[in-house]
Parts: sequence; structure tokens; C-alpha cells
Amino acid sequence: MQDEYDYLCKLIVFGDSGVGKTTLEKYIYQVRESVRNEGKIEEKDIILDYGSRTSVVGVGFQWITVEVKGRKTKLQIWVYTDREHFFEMKGFLNGLRGASGALLLYDVTNASSLNKIPKWCEWIAEQCGKIPIALIGNKVDVEEQQVISKERGIEVQKSNNLSFFMEISTKTGENVIKMLEQIGELMLEVNSNHSYL
Ligand code: GTP
Repeated sequence: MQDEYDYLCKLIVFGDSGVGKTTLEKYIYQVRESVRNEGKIEEKDIILDYGSRTSVVGVGFQWITVEVKGRKTKLQIWVYTDREHFFEMKGFLNGLRGASGALLLYDVTNASSLNKIPKWCEWIAEQCGKIPIALIGNKVDVEEQQVISKERGIEVQKSNNLSFFMEISTKTGENVIKMLEQIGELMLEVNSNHSYL
């Protein structure tokens, strides 16, 4: 059965508006559902699933089970909006607690999308302590529009002491599962607070 798993981990995702958070969620949903429906998925299913997303609570939610060193690891993925007013709400950031890993998304075609990385790292450290955090450059499928180079990404990863760096495309799916497997592996290794079932 698809929902059987050995470990359960909470993964949080941050990223500026437009970096591709919703597209990431859709991709994960598609992969999960296409596994469940043996490849058959209809566009209307995706639209219905996203009708009332982050606008209400400021957090999108997805899940997927990936294989980490032969162990089925279910990732509960909490995708945070970047709308300022949510973060000003008392207790909003408390929702980060219990996370054992984080993905910080930026858009390789938008230079300013790296600006909030230090702020997010601070929030995560305050709420979650030391957990693995990855820096992820999205939209590498539009190579000709790339303004943030891979080298610059690695530089920012290192200067913020982040666990790893990867470039992905949530549109084509390039490296998305690899990224989830890699953060999943670190989450299991570094954090002993995961649930064992
Ligand atoms: P907010 O909802 O405003 O926070 O934005 P978001 O981070 O959810 O971004 P979203 O997924 O809505 O993507 C913004 C735009 O970028 C859309 O037009 C997407 O189709 C496009 N986009 C997202 N991911 C990719 C990608 O990997 N490659 C390309 N070329 N476009 C992408």
C-alpha cells in the first residue's frame, strides 16, 4: 500500500512570491497521484486540490513518501507563503516547530529572490534549532534567463552554512525527487526526533 512508511518527517519550505512553491506542490501531488493511479491523472483533480490553498492559512501542505537508504520515509511538506501579514500574526511561526528539515527556494531568473535567505535561516534556527537546510535554485529549465549562477548559489549556501545546494525545475521535475531524497537522508541522519513506526 502506498501509505505504508518507516519514518515520518516534517519538511518546511520557504521562498519568495513567484519562485515556484505552488508549482513544486503541484509536481509532488502529480507524482504521488500518478503512482496511486498508475499514471492516470486529470487536470481537474489538480485544480480542485489547489482551490483553497495558502490564501486562507498561509501554509500549503503536501506529502510524499521517498526511499532513503531502503527505508520508506514519508515527508510532510509545509510550504509557507511569503505574504508578510501572516508572519506578523502572533504564533504563526510556531507552526515551524517539529520540522526536521527545510528547503529555501529561490528563482535563478530573479536576482532579488535570494535576499531573504538569512532572515529565514534565523526564524528556522529560533523555532527548530539546528536542522538541515538546503538552498534550492528553481527554474533551471530556462537557462537563457538565468541571472543567478550555480557558483553564486554555492557561495550563498556556504556563507549561510546550509547543508547542500541544488538546482531544480519544478516545471519539468528535474532534480525534484533527488532533492527530496537528499534532504530526507539528512533529516533522518541529523535529527533523532523523527517518529519511528
Ligand atoms: P506565490 O503563490 O506568489 O507565493 O508564488 P509561488 O512561489 O507559489 O510561484 P508559482 O509556483 O505560482 O510560480 C510562479 C510562476 O513561475 C508561474 O508562472 C509558474 O508557471 C512559473 N514557474 C514555476 N516553476 C517554474 C520552473 O521550474 N520553470 C519555469 N520556467 N517556470 C516556473
